Amino acid sequence: MSALLSVRNLVKHYRDRDGQPVRALNDVSFDLMPGEILGIVGESGCGKSTLGRTVMRLETPTSGSIRLGDLDLSRARGGKLKAARADIQMVFQDPFGALNPRHSVETIIGEPLIVHGRPDRAARVRQLLDLVGLPQAAARRLPHEFSGGQRQRIAIARALALSPKVIVADEAVSALDVSIQSQILNLLLELRREFGLSMIFISHDLSVVRHVSDRIAVMYFGAFVEYAGAGALFDAPLHPYTRALLSAIPSVPGKARPRHLGRIVLKGDVPDPANRPEGCPFHPRCFAVRDQCRTTPPALAVQTGGTQPERLCACHFPGAAGPA
Ligand SMILES: Nc1ncnc2c1ncn2[C@@H]1O[C@H](COP(=O)(O)OP(=O)(O)O)[C@@H](O)[C@H]1O
Ligand SMILES: [Mg+2]
Repeated sequence: MSALLSVRNLVKHYRDRDGQPVRALNDVSFDLMPGEILGIVGESGCGKSTLGRTVMRLETPTSGSIRLGDLDLSRARGGKLKAARADIQMVFQDPFGALNPRHSVETIIGEPLIVHGRPDRAARVRQLLDLVGLPQAAARRLPHEFSGGQRQRIAIARALALSPKVIVADEAVSALDVSIQSQILNLLLELRREFGLSMIFISHDLSVVRHVSDRIAVMYFGAFVEYAGAGALFDAPLHPYTRALLSAIPSVPGKARPRHLGRIVLKGDVPDPANRPEGCPFHPRCFAVRDQCRTTPPALAVQTGGTQPERLCACHFPGAAGPA
């Protein structure tokens, strides 16, 4: 099976007010397979949204390629870019901010159909409301008449309007109560089952990512530091950062947290992307730091010996023992 979306060496640097580079995204590569959900997880500021927005071409990449089928999205312009945008759609964290408060739900969901000149708009909107579990009467109402979870359903309906191949969901459930979160996650999983949709599912919350992802990429300082099947990542995390994130989520009822995952408290924040630390970007916060880590950045390398064919980790000492 060939990849639906192939991202290679994607880099996005912004400039700060002084014209200095802000290295938000540094050399990210991955393949998204048809029907796959790739989870992207990491603390605030590590570059998750920049990755999502750049893959969507809401940002122009500094370098690298984004192949969607035969098209290099990173270079596409005009009509080709517009056509490709129908195939990748985004769902954001704040549905209220993303939905025009003065427009009816019908207008909001139907807007992409107008932009792309699709026929039978009213019928398609009715169908989309049905798909996301909203009543037909919702069509005439305004966004503020709905709860947060319902607004997220409206945003998902709009994202589905053009029958995209890929959905990029950026903190799509982060603003919702836990019970509503799982309803929306289940809706996304149903849509994947029904339409074979692929998804890039971005969240700072590893327990949410775990619920939906086939594979998970852990991001730190604009790069993947670990990339593995969701099961393998949870059962045997290799990167100290992954282990710290995992140790912070409450253990699943009836299932004790693995013994090697004593609570690891991370101090400090993701480094400022305007100032790259020497060596491994995680070393100032790492419980397993050694001299080499302070001087030499580790490459994202295939980990041999695992059962997963594609298990990557950027650490000189993957699987190092936790703090005493
Ligand atoms: N438009 C921008 N201009 C300058 N810096 C930006 C811009 N957007 C994001 N950044 C910086 O890039 C880094 C990554 O941000 P972001 O991708 O939003 O991270 P995340 O979504 O993981 O919280 C942050 O340090 C942020 O301040
Ligand atoms: Mg973000």
